[in-house]
Amino acid sequence: MTRRTIVAMPGDGIGKVVLNETIRILNSAGFEADYEEGDIGWEFWCKEGNPLPKRTIELLKKHKIGLFGAITSKPKDDAANELAPALQNKGLVYSSPIVGLRQYFNLDICIRPCKTYKGNPLNFIRRGKGGAIEEPIVDVVIFRQNTEGLYGGVEWSNPDNIVYAALTSHPKFVKNFGSVPREDLSISTRIFTRTGTTRILMAAFGYAKKNGYKSVTLCEKPNVIRETSGMMFKLAQEIQKKKFPEIELWNTNIDAQMMWLTKNPENYGVIVAGNMFGDIVSDGFAGLIGGLGFACSAQMSDEGIAVFEPTHGSAPKYADYPVSIVNPIAMVESACMMLEYLEEKEVAARIRKAVAEVIEEGKVQTYDMMKMTGSADVLANGAASTQQMADVIIEKLKTKYSNNPDYEYEKNS
Ligand code: NAI
Ligand code: MG
Repeated sequence: MTRRTIVAMPGDGIGKVVLNETIRILNSAGFEADYEEGDIGWEFWCKEGNPLPKRTIELLKKHKIGLFGAITSKPKDDAANELAPALQNKGLVYSSPIVGLRQYFNLDICIRPCKTYKGNPLNFIRRGKGGAIEEPIVDVVIFRQNTEGLYGGVEWSNPDNIVYAALTSHPKFVKNFGSVPREDLSISTRIFTRTGTTRILMAAFGYAKKNGYKSVTLCEKPNVIRETSGMMFKLAQEIQKKKFPEIELWNTNIDAQMMWLTKNPENYGVIVAGNMFGDIVSDGFAGLIGGLGFACSAQMSDEGIAVFEPTHGSAPKYADYPVSIVNPIAMVESACMMLEYLEEKEVAARIRKAVAEVIEEGKVQTYDMMKMTGSADVLANGAASTQQMADVIIEKLKTKYSNNPDYEYEKNS
């Protein structure tokens, strides 16, 4: 195994603890790496006026692979008020450093797998024929365009003359909004590019082919959002016809997809969507497999830079607990995606087996798995702490799933 250097970006709140525990697990699994800490998040906004310092960008440029916990974002006014006094009133404007990182490195391909863990008490169940309880197996991988669309940041409130003039050149603007006072207008654009759209579609189809999925579902709204969703649908049809005729292209609207989510989630395989709908549909599917404590993601660029992160945020309400209660599995699974990206598939497989077995045994569960409301009391009521959950995964890695030949290693189990 070549020794790697990984840029570890804990960020804020629970990002710090889940990343820390995950690195312990990676070390126990025998993944040989050095971790260089990358500063990112609220603390650096307050102290330096920049939540994504240049030194962090440079670290990632150099080492190319990042593990990221989560950051805290707050509204514009709070951001301005919490700046260090010496930095206030200097025109500094906060923007999310994780969105900034995605855009800086053009991490435009976001992959979010949502797969059922056997025995997870949070798995989605439904009533089948005759009232029997069914537990459908979800095996969905969402491809989300990660840099464009509604999260592209091209927005205005009270638009200036040039923007307003451009808007009034559209007959629908004049008809529907022409009488609205300019200062009452807020506008967020939804920009899709042919290049970005083609890349996410190609990534989704390529993944489906490589991993034996029979369909790719485009989840947009082309019947209403005619230009952007419409272009994506047209490109999806062309790509499927020319390059992936053996894979079926399904087309669902985001609203109907959210309804079908609980009706027939087992029917879906690879799903592809623009930035916002990808974000929505991936949280929706995550809810069927255990929620944010289990939802992992990878984001990668064309130039070989990749950042792996749990889908959840910094959960500030749990950030300052003396003993952390949150579930580290989403971060651990994100690290497994990193290992696969680095072709360390054997290590990833061992960690995944250890995690799966801990979940199936059900002896050690964090509060979310026990359907408790998060509070400091959960530990006294039998929930495992973040560290205890990591410990039990490590225990499995040291014994049953060790890479140490002195232990039994169930390579083919
Ligand atoms: P969140 O994901 O931080 O938390 C929502 C709720 O999900 C939590 O209150 C908790 O009940 C549950 N949860 C999240 N992670 C969990 C875990 N590992 N184990 C168990 N339960 C977990 O989202 P929220 O509350 O909307 O945002 C909090 C902050 O995080 C905001 O400042 C937001 O901007 C930021 N955020 C950052 C993201 C990122 O860094 N990529 C993504 C989403 C939100
Ligand atoms: Mg989200």
